[in-house]
Amino acid sequence: MQDSIDTIRKEFDNDLQSLKTTQEVEAAKVKYLGKKGPVQDLMKKLKDATPEQRPLFGKFINDLKEEITRQIDEKAHALIAQEETKQLEEEAIDVTMPGRRRFVGRKHVITQVLDEMIDILIGMGFSVQYGPDIDTEYYNFEALNFAPDHPARDMQDTFYLAPNVLLRTHTSNIQTRVMESNRPPIRIIAPGKAYRNETVTARSHVFFHQVEAMYIDEGVTFADLFATFNEFLRKLFKTDIETRFRPSYFPFVEPGLEVDLRCINCQGNGCALCKHTGWLEIAGAGMVHPEVLKNGGIDPEKYTGFAWGMGVERLIMLKYGVTDIRLFTENDLRFLQQFTAL
Ligand code: DAH
Repeated sequence: MQDSIDTIRKEFDNDLQSLKTTQEVEAAKVKYLGKKGPVQDLMKKLKDATPEQRPLFGKFINDLKEEITRQIDEKAHALIAQEETKQLEEEAIDVTMPGRRRFVGRKHVITQVLDEMIDILIGMGFSVQYGPDIDTEYYNFEALNFAPDHPARDMQDTFYLAPNVLLRTHTSNIQTRVMESNRPPIRIIAPGKAYRNETVTARSHVFFHQVEAMYIDEGVTFADLFATFNEFLRKLFKTDIETRFRPSYFPFVEPGLEVDLRCINCQGNGCALCKHTGWLEIAGAGMVHPEVLKNGGIDPEKYTGFAWGMGVERLIMLKYGVTDIRLFTENDLRFLQQFTAL
């Protein structure tokens, strides 16, 4: 009996050393003190002892049981304390550490400027319409009086998605749509992307943004176009900007114009930005062609209108001296973060 007790104690002492977690301690408790454990076995054997031996052996077994229970409890407490300390250490916060600066996302410079342009034009009485980026040849070209053999219709200049279906080459595709479903007076702007099948360079890209404007009513004249355009620019640049309207050709306007700004960089004295002309081209414009009015179901005898299409990237490039249009789409934060305080 004494031998068995010693063996169990030894084995238990050994086991105790190797216990690393509270789960293991729990398992050891079951192993030694459980119903099928060695202590219980000894209890069963007690009946084989002589009546004289029995009380003494009984005491030995009880002592062993108490000893094991005590050690198991101590071990469990020690491990719990250890685990708590470890957790506290892991979760410790160094309150003296400097705060981590949070990265705050901001609107892309193009969105910022578009928002500003839209705000100004809404303030001037225009409402916003959005045309589809994917459109038919009809709305992008035909309704706008482009001749069937006009070079812009060529696959080389335009992204065709299917016969007759293309990525709009300008925001002017909104014009006929708006005329079809509205009666004059019509005062709309259409901000959005335009796409052209061009080689990407510092000055041209396969897509860019435009803001189209169109005003149709009785008695709209060039004077309205000039005044509206100049007022818009004055509000955008927050200063008087001299403009120059040059005759130009677009199939959907007659007469057609290109609008130049006095070079912002050199005030007209001549510099690299304006290629020493003193002027910067900023938009196409004109009086809506009678054929286009007719295509939109508006009587050109009764109504006239003006329209313009302004390049947004171009405007930003001029305003902030950006020399490469590709920067707008490269997502380089060093570039974009310069426009956080616009
Ligand atoms: N859609 C023309 C372009 O992208 C620009 C333009 C010219 C728009 C004259 C107009 C306009 O509304 O009247 O080159």
